Amino acid sequence: MAEVVTERTGAELISPPVAAADLRLPQRLRLGVLASGSGSNFEAIAQAIAAQTLNAQVQVLIYNNPKARAAERAAQYHVPAVLLNHRHYPHREDLDGEIVKVLQAHNVEWVIMAGWMRIVTAVLLDAYPNRVLNIHPSLLPSFPGIHGVEQALAAGVKITGCTVHFAALEVDSGPIIMQAAVPILPEDTATTLHARIQRQEHRIYPEAIALAAQGQP
Ligand code: GAR
Repeated sequence: MAEVVTERTGAELISPPVAAADLRLPQRLRLGVLASGSGSNFEAIAQAIAAQTLNAQVQVLIYNNPKARAAERAAQYHVPAVLLNHRHYPHREDLDGEIVKVLQAHNVEWVIMAGWMRIVTAVLLDAYPNRVLNIHPSLLPSFPGIHGVEQALAAGVKITGCTVHFAALEVDSGPIIMQAAVPILPEDTATTLHARIQRQEHRIYPEAIALAAQGQP
């Protein structure tokens, strides 16, 4: 039922509303995607590119867990995938330094964190100033961190959602680009709620990438 409501009133629930024409970009964006897990947001971006609603190309996927399904999805879309296992780097800065090397080697201009469950450092942010984006499964600034969906359920809020924002040193903070709201149903579990939030994530991330790129000089 709520899914219907979300779909029917989707335009009002997503902020800011974006007209399809606004998503046209004169230049093809060169993206590098960072993912730790399933990679459904990576796939949503790849699908938007394939459908020509987002003028971009994923130059490389970087993943940190050897078993991440994101790597399989990258193969399906013929995107090179590079494993950088965080366990092999003693300091976060070391991992980020390696990430920057891989991104630069693949000529990446925008860094898209799509379920990247590592804390980023100034090494990455300074290499790509105002060009690192993140998605989080809550209406930030509420419920940052690794359990955004569970936190919203535990707090008893009636509406949650997802946020795409520019990344900053503090986890799940930084200027907000787009948000979508999702109602919480009485019978929701973290699994059912996260699934509905992800439908909105997949919808807004490609649009938010285009919006962010349009804001650049
Ligand atoms: C997404 O729901 C994303 O919002 C969340 O991880 C999931 C990854 O899904 N990110 C965070 O919680 C960041 N703090 P995916 O691998 O299927 O794209």
